[in-house]
Amino acid sequence: MILLNPGPVTLSFGVKRALSSQDLCHREPEFSTLLSELRRGIAGLYPDSNGCRAVLLSGSGTLAIEAMVSSFVPRKGTALVLSNGHYGERIARMLSVAGRPFEVVESAWDEPWNLEALSRRLRTGRPYNRILAVHHETTTGRLNDLEALGELSARWQVPILLDAVSSFGAELISMRKWNIAALAGVANKCLHGAPGLSFVLARHSELESENNVESLYMNLREHDQAQERGSTLFTLPTNLCLALAKALEELREEGGPAGRRSLYLSRFDAIEDAIALAGHLPLISEPAFRSSVLRAFRVRGGDTYERLHARLKKAGFILYAGQGRLSNEIFRVSLMGDIPDASLKKLAEEFRK
Ligand SMILES: Cc1ncc(COP(=O)(O)O)c(C=O)c1O
Repeated sequence: MILLNPGPVTLSFGVKRALSSQDLCHREPEFSTLLSELRRGIAGLYPDSNGCRAVLLSGSGTLAIEAMVSSFVPRKGTALVLSNGHYGERIARMLSVAGRPFEVVESAWDEPWNLEALSRRLRTGRPYNRILAVHHETTTGRLNDLEALGELSARWQVPILLDAVSSFGAELISMRKWNIAALAGVANKCLHGAPGLSFVLARHSELESENNVESLYMNLREHDQAQERGSTLFTLPTNLCLALAKALEELREEGGPAGRRSLYLSRFDAIEDAIALAGHLPLISEPAFRSSVLRAFRVRGGDTYERLHARLKKAGFILYAGQGRLSNEIFRVSLMGDIPDASLKKLAEEFRK
């Protein structure tokens, strides 16, 4: 089966083999070595993220984002959330649960971020402490304009905390230039590892500032201190770590995030004409803001997602539904993971039927 959902992805043979290659105790020196290799590997993927450390967590992307929110959004001042989809709305819910003051700058789900409204708020001089945003809004496949946000963030000196769960490893990210204090990512999307392992990549200054987190499991500073010593606070999923090490090796061999982005774009080139011919239109009208990772299409009139999903599943592909208010209108296709060219050809043929 080929997974076209945005993670978990179809694993390569090498990653599957690594997953079951060894039984490893998380308190042994062999694991310390693996842990340091992973932390360095994640931090080293983007050239301007030196000055940052990766903290590994046992859990899905939501855990990493919530840990970032709980650990790095100060109690004093107000956080600003930019939202244009399900995952932006989820960050607002996290802030609400964590009892942090926040304001939301909201746009419709099929619209870009409202950076003018954000600017107006920043100009008021109110004590804003962090900007929270989703890089690739997987709800719609929109790659938000992080460069423009980075300029505003640097100008007003309000650092960004980024949900990079569905962009890290493939889309361009510039930690220093775009004033990103920390980002959350996962093993099982653009990195092509197995699900259940996530991480936060954060500036040293963020990890070394005052520790006032009211959570044991989501305290990133304590996780970081333990991991700096080559240890781990709690059990990390050792097999998933082995798989991620292999996945990172494969990513580096493919030319890092830039290579992976080109790979995904070439895969979409191979199927998009067939989808258009079948009458399904892209949800995001501006091509420059379509991510390389996932594309959303309006289901052609007269057809339904359920019918399309069932037909493709019989042919060996898992298509992905829309979320929330878009669930009856769109389908989503992601081309991450180990997808042979022959499968892409077959997928295009299925859409042409
Ligand atoms: C942008 C974004 N943020 C957060 C999440 C949540 O990740 P998880 O399902 O791993 O908790 C997802 C999942 O697809 C996502 O795409």
